[in-house]
Amino acid sequence: MWKPEERIKFQTSPGSWPSKQEALSSRLFSPIKYNNLSLAHRTWIPAMVPWRATENGEVTDAVVEWYERFAHGKPGALVVEATGVRDIPSGPLLRIGDDRYIEGLKRIVDAVKIASNGHTKIFIQLIDFLNIRRRPTKNKYFNRFLDVTEDHKKTLGDTLMTEKTARAQLVALGDDALEQVLTPREFESYSKGYRERVTDMHLPHVCELPLTLPPLFAEAALRAKEAGFDGVELHYAHAYTMASFLSKLNNRPDEYGGNKESRMRLPLEVFKAVRQTVGDSFTVGCRMLTDDCVAGGSKLEDAVYFAEAFASAGMDFISTSRGGKFEDAAVPKEGQAVYPYTGQSGYECMPHYISDTKGPFGRNAGPVAEVRQALRQKGFNTPIVIAGGIHGFNQAETMLRECSADIIGLARQSLADPDWFEKVRTGCGNEVNVCKYTNYCEGLDQKHKTVTCQLWDRVGIDEEGTPLTRDGKRRLTAPTWNSQD
Ligand SMILES: Cc1cc2nc3c(=O)[nH]c(=O)nc-3n(C[C@H](O)[C@H](O)[C@H](O)COP(=O)(O)O)c2cc1C
Repeated sequence: MWKPEERIKFQTSPGSWPSKQEALSSRLFSPIKYNNLSLAHRTWIPAMVPWRATENGEVTDAVVEWYERFAHGKPGALVVEATGVRDIPSGPLLRIGDDRYIEGLKRIVDAVKIASNGHTKIFIQLIDFLNIRRRPTKNKYFNRFLDVTEDHKKTLGDTLMTEKTARAQLVALGDDALEQVLTPREFESYSKGYRERVTDMHLPHVCELPLTLPPLFAEAALRAKEAGFDGVELHYAHAYTMASFLSKLNNRPDEYGGNKESRMRLPLEVFKAVRQTVGDSFTVGCRMLTDDCVAGGSKLEDAVYFAEAFASAGMDFISTSRGGKFEDAAVPKEGQAVYPYTGQSGYECMPHYISDTKGPFGRNAGPVAEVRQALRQKGFNTPIVIAGGIHGFNQAETMLRECSADIIGLARQSLADPDWFEKVRTGCGNEVNVCKYTNYCEGLDQKHKTVTCQLWDRVGIDEEGTPLTRDGKRRLTAPTWNSQD
């Protein structure tokens, strides 16, 4: 993963923990209610893909246990991982693109409701993504994938050469020369792997996204409702389709690209289709970026504009993140796909403990506060969820009291200790396993391996009955905490 040049090492220091009484009178553990969003506490576990579904995108026992374990900690809300709205092969990522997924998803909902005693609201994040292929070997790219054109032959110096000769000459060239012969997109497909963009108007299915996506999201949301979820989070963040529509890099020539209003058109149409399908009393919000954190991408002013439009359209919450883009991602090894959290924008999304002077904790607080303030000035009370390096009670409480956000998201910290919420609420904060932000979990995610935490995945692995990863080396969920409360 990309790291800032300064390479300053930060140690997590959660500060003092509240007594039970202090926790009870805190803002963090106070309820929040807005439109269809009603949480017992202002705590939130943001979506995290744990790579535990089947290759067909179905819920497994390991998926159910994963969410059940989080629910024992009783967060105010728990967002189930990014779940594909299409019924297409996408590895062990959950899917919701067909009615046959409803039964499995219902198992997650039931487990969470029971484990949290009905305390935790459960939402599911709905995602669409475009085609992306692994980086091919040089031979494969030039002998199988590249469409040899007259331009290639011309640059190689002989328009009459056969296609076979052209391919052989291309394979023999070094990368510097190839960069001159190939178009930028071809060079990208060769050196990083083919990746579609929302601006690929020559592809009919990309051109038609504004027609296909609203019903896909709407049907997915309806399935989520049928499975018993309390609501859905539309994934409008990071490297995926909807965020790419919002991005300033979206220069589609139709009415869905270019200026802010056009870029926002499809995300609004998706929301409206979802709302119309699930009805007025189902919780629907989105996750969006306060900043793309890539050259030419959307900035805070775009985010403010989008957030106002989403609030005005009637979203029940807006969850925030930053970065996580393909544009600046590291070049993958041959046979691997480019991963959007490996560049500087990826760092902004999941900041590591080796950081710059700003540090990894609460990097998004300033921008999120500005988005929130802009909404309040326009008279919108839409709750804003913040995440990014939050692990201490005082840190969370300060963000709420200073009105940076309305709800506090802890992703990696709740992976490190799913009982964070119950421990802190009951005055047992000193028992919290504090996340070190080494991004061990993110490293597993990058390799599409079952996600666990280094703080607990080797604890008690010899004990009988402990569910383990397939190689038997890591436990699948955090050990149980026996509350004295
Ligand atoms: C293993 C892993 C998987 C993630 N998967 C998702 C995801 O499915 N959807 C999403 O919006 N963010 C995802 N994220 C980002 C987190 O939700 C969160 O925004 C980020 O980790 C920063 O918050 P934190 O510092 O509290 O961890 C993932 C993060 C991790 C570590």
